[in-house]
Amino acid sequence: MVKKQKLTATQLKDFAIKTFGDSNLGRCPKSLDPEINPDLQSPGVSILGNPKGLSEQIRGKFAWRWHQDKDHLPKTEGLDMNSLYVVMLYGVKIPPEGTNGQPHTTNFLDMVEAYHNLDSQHRQQLEQLSMYHLSPISPPPGEEMPRKLHPIVSTHKVTGRKGLYLGSDNSILLGLEDNLEEAKQYWQDLFGKILSCTPVYAHVWQPGDIVFWDNSQVMHTGMPYDALKYQRIGLRVGVVNNI
Ligand SMILES: [Fe+2]
Repeated sequence: MVKKQKLTATQLKDFAIKTFGDSNLGRCPKSLDPEINPDLQSPGVSILGNPKGLSEQIRGKFAWRWHQDKDHLPKTEGLDMNSLYVVMLYGVKIPPEGTNGQPHTTNFLDMVEAYHNLDSQHRQQLEQLSMYHLSPISPPPGEEMPRKLHPIVSTHKVTGRKGLYLGSDNSILLGLEDNLEEAKQYWQDLFGKILSCTPVYAHVWQPGDIVFWDNSQVMHTGMPYDALKYQRIGLRVGVVNNI
């Protein structure tokens, strides 16, 4: 984490690429949105929250569930969730509180630690299992939701460490495709078990904070805030290194 920064979106992206490598996702140039400060816009940098003001729908509400960014993308060239995949999140404008009345946070869970906190019998059992990861966004009517099958225990290509890779709460255990209720229950039970034995880091945001993490083995969740009362602006860059 780095504090007290004042960067444009382009400066943030340059910092991310210089620090972690030049393999950034989604850098297609888009035309500038005239309703948003141009300093907040740069190809490959996502704007989160409600940057246009209180009347705007929050961008990315699905981020209020435990997830790993871009996890659901089955066809992205060069994207391998076992590689170093740094996500950098820069807090430009921070709501003074969440809907729970507490300071606004993003919460993080180390999935390597989560794996090691389970007993060895449970770990061995999970080594045999895989899950379909689904997009958190519903597909257009009539279109099939893309699914990606992935082992529950992942081994990081750079560090060689094992961690749990669970997708979000809509993931389906292989074998339970025809019983979605049971699949949801399985995920919730497993995640509940993990939360009971692995501490969550809640980052309390201050404007100017840059938080970055290895998205391949860390889960995170945004916390809800009242977007009719408060504005939030966050800038996010993802850097994938597939060496
Ligand atoms: Fe996210």
